[in-house]
Amino acid sequence: MKIIAFNGSPRAEQSTTNLMVSAFLTGAEEAGAITEQVFLSKKNIRYCLGCFTCWLKTPGTCIQSDDMGELIYKFLSADIVIFATPLYMDNVSGIMKNFMDRLLPIGDPHFEKDEHGEVRHVKVKTNIPKFVMLSNCGFPEQTHFQVLKLLARRLARNYQTELIGEIYRGAGALLQEPKIQKIAAQYLVLLKNAGQEVVKDGIISQETTLQLDMPLIPDPNFVDIFITNMNTYMDATIAEFKKS
Ligand SMILES: Cc1cc2nc3c(=O)[nH]c(=O)nc-3n(C[C@H](O)[C@H](O)[C@H](O)COP(=O)(O)O)c2cc1C
Repeated sequence: MKIIAFNGSPRAEQSTTNLMVSAFLTGAEEAGAITEQVFLSKKNIRYCLGCFTCWLKTPGTCIQSDDMGELIYKFLSADIVIFATPLYMDNVSGIMKNFMDRLLPIGDPHFEKDEHGEVRHVKVKTNIPKFVMLSNCGFPEQTHFQVLKLLARRLARNYQTELIGEIYRGAGALLQEPKIQKIAAQYLVLLKNAGQEVVKDGIISQETTLQLDMPLIPDPNFVDIFITNMNTYMDATIAEFKKS
């Protein structure tokens, strides 16, 4: 089984996204998968021109020649892909959105009605990989992922493939905070478990998903402490910069 994670953070190796993906992929490898993480920020991916050349004139091939040809090939070669992205403006990052848009050549331009009576494009003969949505964000609550949750379901429906797992982490930067390394390490074990489950069972279990969804710090005052600490940090960093 081949699992490829596409990391849409501009912070590449430094990103919390990378930390989360790496733990997940370690678990998947332990369970026997071949894995790879692609840092999209290091690739040359231009935005979609909306010309539909890839559908109407050169089916399956974009008019632009950049790294996306190779990335589509990689995408289709996977059994499972991970869309891994920091939350930007309640959504995927721009890098990830560009990547998603540029997957257009995979699709079929023809229309049909789906089982709910909604119009969609005809299912392609190519096997579209099943996928996991993985994200982390700055705010502490899990509610900030509402848009991504809906997007993941829409992507699965539009591409007629399966969403086999969702991993969302509020206050994600805390995973890189030395003061809570014990808690972060426990969370990374959960991520490893999720990676193993995807290989063994084809899906992340409800139990693991629920555990991954729990607040990182199980303190009823966590949000208030978070606000105080973050504001102190912001003020100190701004003051430091002014001095330099
Ligand atoms: C342009 C931009 C937009 C952001 N929008 C949100 C947001 O809507 N909600 C949120 O909780 N955090 C937001 N963040 C914070 C990031 O999600 C957060 O810093 C995250 O931990 C970055 O992950 P990474 O290290 O994997 O890149 C935003 C950050 C940037 C730079």
